[in-house]
Amino acid sequence: MIVTQYVSELRRLRSELSPPVGLVPTMGFLHEGHLALVRQSQEECAATVVSLFVNPTQFAPTEDLTNYPRDAERDMRLLEEAGVDLVFAPQAEEMYANDHETWVMVDRLARRLEGATRPTHFQGVATVVAALFHIVEPQRAYFGQKDAQQVLVIDRMIRDLHFPVELRVADTVREPDGVAMSSRNTYLSPDERQAAPVLRRSLDLAERLWQDGGRDAEQIRKAMVEAIEAEPLARLDYVSITDARTLDEIHMIDRKALVSLAVRIGRTRLIDNAVLPPGEPLLTGGSPCS
Ligand code: PAJ
Repeated sequence: MIVTQYVSELRRLRSELSPPVGLVPTMGFLHEGHLALVRQSQEECAATVVSLFVNPTQFAPTEDLTNYPRDAERDMRLLEEAGVDLVFAPQAEEMYANDHETWVMVDRLARRLEGATRPTHFQGVATVVAALFHIVEPQRAYFGQKDAQQVLVIDRMIRDLHFPVELRVADTVREPDGVAMSSRNTYLSPDERQAAPVLRRSLDLAERLWQDGGRDAEQIRKAMVEAIEAEPLARLDYVSITDARTLDEIHMIDRKALVSLAVRIGRTRLIDNAVLPPGEPLLTGGSPCS
């Protein structure tokens, strides 16, 4: 495994890899969710490049950039064990010049859901992913459904800017109690961690109501809100049922829908989602990896 923090060196090393090359963009502090993307890339591609970069532009000034968990040594060991070919771990100055002023903005999709409370988040994500695509020039890129809106934003960017990259989406990897794996789970105290399964429980409830024929989005939303409110440590940010393609709120679930929610537990904000009908891939045309 070769590790570099420099764009020029990455480009030189990348040119020696045989296609198809898969890219797994991450912010490090790796867990099984990240490693599942890595394994999928290795199964489908001749070479796998992983980027480790806590991208400052996707954090608002009030967010957790400085506290975001980091453990580069452990990350490198896990990637080495996984048999990754190339790791790109740049410093912020390598990715962003002092006078950086170019942004990729995916307009409407990025203003929904997470974008409502984090208005500059997806601009930061799309910009860094576009830069990584230019630097690494992968044939395929691997993203997790855990961040469903991020998948939709990147999918739209790829199409609109004609990136020659195939987006591959992997299912959310969960802890045995249903909690979606996330680097941010480490912020939770033991009590808060015990409260965290409430997200998956409320998504399970939505799936069950849908299986029983429920198609009224407001009714399902209400049931989910009640489930969240029954957990004393949880504070609801939003529960939303949208068209899975446009992220427009819907009243009747008469098409593929994305049920998503954000919940604060203590000072930690957790997100999760499910697609209805259950088991449907998030992207039409794209197939889930797992
Ligand atoms: P990060 O949160 O490190 O996640 C990297 C990738 O792992 C994303 O595609 C994310 O959806 C996926 N992932 C995280 N938890 C997962 C889980 N439990 N199951 C499956 N996949 C999971 O997402 C980012 O970083 C950044 O926004 C990034 C795309 C790297 C741009 O900076």
